[in-house]
Amino acid sequence: MTSTTDQDRVLIFDTTLRDGEQSPGATMTHDEKLEIAQLLDEMGVDIIEAGFPIASEGDFEAVRDIAKQAQNAVICGLSRANFKDIDRCWEAVKHARFPRIHTFIGTSPLHRAIPNLDMDQMAERIHETVTHARNLCDNVQWSPMDATRTEHDYLCRVVEIAIKAGATTINIPDTVGYTAPRESADLIRMLLERVPGADQIVFSTHCHNDLGMATANSLAAVEAGARQIECTINGLGERAGNTALEEVVMALKVRHDIMPYDTHIDTTKIMNISRRVAAVSGFAVQFNKAIVGKNAFAHESGIHQDGMLKNSETFEIMRPEDVGLSATNLVMGKHSGRAALRAKLGELGYELADNQLADVFVRFKALADRKKEVYDDDLIALMQAQTTSA
Ligand code: KIV
Ligand code: ZN
Repeated sequence: MTSTTDQDRVLIFDTTLRDGEQSPGATMTHDEKLEIAQLLDEMGVDIIEAGFPIASEGDFEAVRDIAKQAQNAVICGLSRANFKDIDRCWEAVKHARFPRIHTFIGTSPLHRAIPNLDMDQMAERIHETVTHARNLCDNVQWSPMDATRTEHDYLCRVVEIAIKAGATTINIPDTVGYTAPRESADLIRMLLERVPGADQIVFSTHCHNDLGMATANSLAAVEAGARQIECTINGLGERAGNTALEEVVMALKVRHDIMPYDTHIDTTKIMNISRRVAAVSGFAVQFNKAIVGKNAFAHESGIHQDGMLKNSETFEIMRPEDVGLSATNLVMGKHSGRAALRAKLGELGYELADNQLADVFVRFKALADRKKEVYDDDLIALMQAQTTSA
């Protein structure tokens, strides 16, 4: 195994409670947010973005109470580039053991047009607001929204201004999920090379999944020098969502041989928090979702089940226990073979001779043709019918 140093530590910044909650329909109650924040803190997330305090009284109270509750994580709130937002954010996060203010402004041509600021006026706004945030809090993150569609020269200029004004983390958002892995890496590399002071701060990556590349883009940014990944549980987030925490964390763990970067996440807590976030947000996890989908550790085909029974590494690259599942799920269906049926019946307490198994197998296949999935109770009924007719 490759040994790692502090240089290889990647901070996990979870924004389930801010960017995740911004998905239409994913609103969570105050108590639900506190519960999720507690689980994030316990699983080893480094920074929790708890909300957008100026957005509503409810958001303010949630950020404030999460700040009071957190034991280990840095608690961060979001604010636009104005003093009122930043002051409100500080009022909420200041209760934390480790507070952070996150302030942002859209820097691409399309986003600059919204507040109708020219390049110089925007640069001045960034200088003033980051300076103001830094006067309140030692830990300040600044984001140029839509960074991946911002002119490179201008991006370098405003990142330098934010660093000089006191930002300690510079987050590079791919706000509309437009970038691709090579470009994501090149952008971080370019900023590290061109911006004075870039080696003194942490670069962060914040990807959206509109083209299904958020995980790949985040990992590419890390390989180029980013040391913070912004992500959400189950990839919850606006439109196609954000980078999924469970995907980047497990990718770094499973492929540590080629990506030797460490997180402090206790991966055995992944499945539980995934289920809680799905329940409280009302956003069900798709069956074939990487890591946390119902089928991520399930096998139905005979060849796969037979291989799994002989050696689980045949068809699994990580152990279900590593993400908090008790075991691989061998799903009994029409593709299952004799070996899996024998193993499953064994688990249910039935040890069969070869001729008995052959008989049950025929009836099992007939049942599986009628049903999508054959459950334990179906198999027990099959065995009871067998005993009665014998
Ligand atoms: O996607 C985005 O640009 C954001 C910023 C506010 C960081 O969520
Ligand atoms: Zn975002």
